[in-house]
Amino acid sequence: MAEAWAVHTVDRRLGSRQLAALLTGTAGERPGYRALAHAVRTLLLDGRIPLHTRLPAERELAAALSVSRATVTAAYDVLREGGYARSRRGAGTWTELPEGRRPSSVAAFPAGDDVLDLAVAAPGAPEAELAAALAGASELLVEHAPTPGYHPYGIPELRAAVADRFTRRGLPTLPDQILVTTGAQHALSLTLALLGRPGDRVLVENPSYPNALDAIRGAGLRAVPVPVTDDGWDSGLVESSLRQAAPRIAYLVPDFQNPTGCLMPREQRVRILETARATGTWLLIDETIADIALDGPPPAPFASLAPHGAGEQVVTVGSLSKSHWGGLRIGWVRAGSRLITELAMARVPVDMATPVIEQLVALHLLRGMNEVLRERLPRLREQRDALAASLARHLPEWRWRLPPGGLSLWVDLGRPVASSLARAALAHGVRIEGGARFGADPGTHEHRLRVPFTLPPELSEQAAVRLAAAAAGDLRLTGDDTGRRPWVA
Ligand SMILES: Cc1ncc(COP(=O)(O)O)c(C=O)c1O
Repeated sequence: MAEAWAVHTVDRRLGSRQLAALLTGTAGERPGYRALAHAVRTLLLDGRIPLHTRLPAERELAAALSVSRATVTAAYDVLREGGYARSRRGAGTWTELPEGRRPSSVAAFPAGDDVLDLAVAAPGAPEAELAAALAGASELLVEHAPTPGYHPYGIPELRAAVADRFTRRGLPTLPDQILVTTGAQHALSLTLALLGRPGDRVLVENPSYPNALDAIRGAGLRAVPVPVTDDGWDSGLVESSLRQAAPRIAYLVPDFQNPTGCLMPREQRVRILETARATGTWLLIDETIADIALDGPPPAPFASLAPHGAGEQVVTVGSLSKSHWGGLRIGWVRAGSRLITELAMARVPVDMATPVIEQLVALHLLRGMNEVLRERLPRLREQRDALAASLARHLPEWRWRLPPGGLSLWVDLGRPVASSLARAALAHGVRIEGGARFGADPGTHEHRLRVPFTLPPELSEQAAVRLAAAAAGDLRLTGDDTGRRPWVA
């Protein structure tokens, strides 16, 4: 861990009252030192206390919890012994994770035939509409074919159609505020690289979308995680993190967050907008999943809540991958027109432009978007409810909150066995990601599993049967992987 420490500076601290509030209900009324250590470790592994966060001074925490100082000292000792904390004289105690707690991903494991793929939370294409859009695109291609076909900003008609959709959703937008990209992932990478410099801080949700986290790390940016629990975001924590860390960028997925499925309430959005304005933080808002609203109307664009003139600080990313098909590789950025120009200039050395034929297909699909969603959303709702029923039948000890949208359940397994379970599941014919893959701090969320409801009901029933068979096997607690004492929730 010595090298890890060398690249991390402790720039976050947890106050004694903040920690006492987090411990309420988890550590008992007046916890003994073991219960206290256990509760802090659980909060850390759950992502609710970030890694490399300075814990309160012993005396302060003892006062806040009405326990003796010796209890806190002993609890910190237990945490240090387990590799969950480090101390340095004069510098205090901060959270750590034992060596070896690294996320593993099933992407590294080959999948055979007959494998049910739950590793990706994305639906297949609406086939009839896609065929019709392809036919329509080939007609429009006649106008484009005589031109060179390089459009770093996107073809004008698609930029106009994306802008028009924002406008109809309540956020007036001009075509020159839109950049067409090769999927949302491209949009995220471009924006992070343009707005951030290596070493800059980026506030991220924990857990979050792993490819965005990888892009943040890849750009040399430093993630500042804030927890998203089954109850959603904690406004106070988001605001204090913004104020304490003054990150350059905050990357948020407010609409049916991946993987938790949470939908951020309007008041929280307004408060985050206000705070980010005060701290000069760019808000990078990922609306890739916004159309998958299963229990109510789709949310308005985040940027539509910004007071007049403050919206320039919000960069919105979107995509057709969830509403239509990831194979299209069509996404976009909405921002101020100056930033769009800079992004277009930055993308030229990378990919020159997005293919014209795919853009023409996307244009057709966008025009018929409401019809596609009218068919798609009820089916996803049915699949969500069927998956929940199958899991409840075959894995009654698993827990989850039914999300109001998105494409997956964020399941609490009750014990930290997700990596081991994911490996066992592959042997039983299910490909699925363990929760650690989504942790902004490596090694957290090992007791979670993201289970997409992208399969039809009969297949998700089969997947649940296979998962139950895998779970009935001899699963290794993560603690075993590290050669340390297993930790049991
Ligand atoms: C939150 C989020 N952002 C971005 C993406 C990537 O989307 P695209 O396929 O358009 O690159 C995904 C895909 O799963 C996602 O869930």
